[in-house]
Amino acid sequence: MPEPKPKVVLGVSGGIAAYKACELLRRLTESGHDVRVVPTASALHFVGAATWSALSGHPVSAEVWDDVHEVPHVRIGQEADLVVVAPATADMLAKAAHGLADDLLTNTLLTARCPVVFAPAMHTEMWEHPATQENVATLRRRGAVVVEPAVGRLTGVDTGKGRLPEPAEIFEVCRRVLGRRGLATGPDLTGRHVVVSAGGTREPLDPVRYLGNRSSGKQGYALARTAAARGARVTLIEANTGFPDPAGVDVLHVGTAVQLREAVLKAAADADAVVMAAAVADFRPAMYAEGKIKKREGQEPAPVALVRNPDILAEISADRARPDQVIVGFAAETDDVLANGRDKLRRKGCDLLVVNEVGERKTFGSEENEAVVLAADGTETPVPYGPKEALADTVWDLVAPRLP
Ligand code: CTP
Repeated sequence: MPEPKPKVVLGVSGGIAAYKACELLRRLTESGHDVRVVPTASALHFVGAATWSALSGHPVSAEVWDDVHEVPHVRIGQEADLVVVAPATADMLAKAAHGLADDLLTNTLLTARCPVVFAPAMHTEMWEHPATQENVATLRRRGAVVVEPAVGRLTGVDTGKGRLPEPAEIFEVCRRVLGRRGLATGPDLTGRHVVVSAGGTREPLDPVRYLGNRSSGKQGYALARTAAARGARVTLIEANTGFPDPAGVDVLHVGTAVQLREAVLKAAADADAVVMAAAVADFRPAMYAEGKIKKREGQEPAPVALVRNPDILAEISADRARPDQVIVGFAAETDDVLANGRDKLRRKGCDLLVVNEVGERKTFGSEENEAVVLAADGTETPVPYGPKEALADTVWDLVAPRLP
């Protein structure tokens, strides 16, 4: 017997971004989910019932008074494996936070016992209003995943925070939340602030050249995404990855180790956990040439003098912003992997160290990873070769019980 398709309720509230929910719907159905669309009456002003019905293969209604014999206002929520509301307007967040139930979607939100994801979209002023912020905080405290809106063009000519994240990003959040369904944990990082660094620093020599490394940033992005899907407020500090910002994550962009240090120290001040997945250059050129360094005929190149960069992981571990903060480091090793890893864990003073063996197919730029997570209490957790997301989830599985 084939596995039954996961049942997803796609709630659509009345904002112009409702049209983007059509693409989210397509992605969900094409990846094997049984999707029931529940729009609000205002959403139907933007996209009609015929579109939702044709794309989902199910009847569509905004009201509790249709098909009453099937008791849809209770059944749809009870049977769902996931409810995702995209776009979620300020009004919808307020209704959900206060438990109002005046249409099919708000009834569904009250009867659902599955994970719920809200993808808000509204004007910046509405998003920033204390009423909306308090409603979002209430929903998050109760375990819902509220994705941070994207920054960019809003309806009309104005720009700012409040844009619906790309449907592909919301889909990724849904997939991850559904993937954790049935695990004991659920959104176990709700109410936590976690900081993740990702990518590789570049240390400039002159305006066109730098010393860099081969870290792609994929593992750090996987850590940020999975933490957001598990309910955390995530600050991702990325260096030179070039990736689009993941949904529901506050992203800071830096270039050098010194800039990364500054951003990490600031973000870590109120963080419950810090994961240093970035590859930080240990050295930087002692001198920066304001003009491009030219080759000269008949002259040997001048040697490049280097100076040490600060060790961010060692610094934040030794001088913790909070005594109960959980700090995780990464190590890429080629030889004596475990012995070097244990030694590094001691030297850096962090709580957990994810040790990768660098080799063909492994680590840099690949989608997969294999690692051992060493803990300061002596335990070792091997993570078999698999997606970087699986390693990311294992890291959070080990971080969560260590949080105060
Ligand atoms: N790290 C850091 N600041 C640095 C260098 C590294 O915070 N200046 C962090 C990385 O983010 C990573 C961990 O430290 O989490 C391991 O880095 P690595 O470069 O392997 O450590 P080193 O002590 O430099 O080890 P090695 O002797 O192998 O160079």
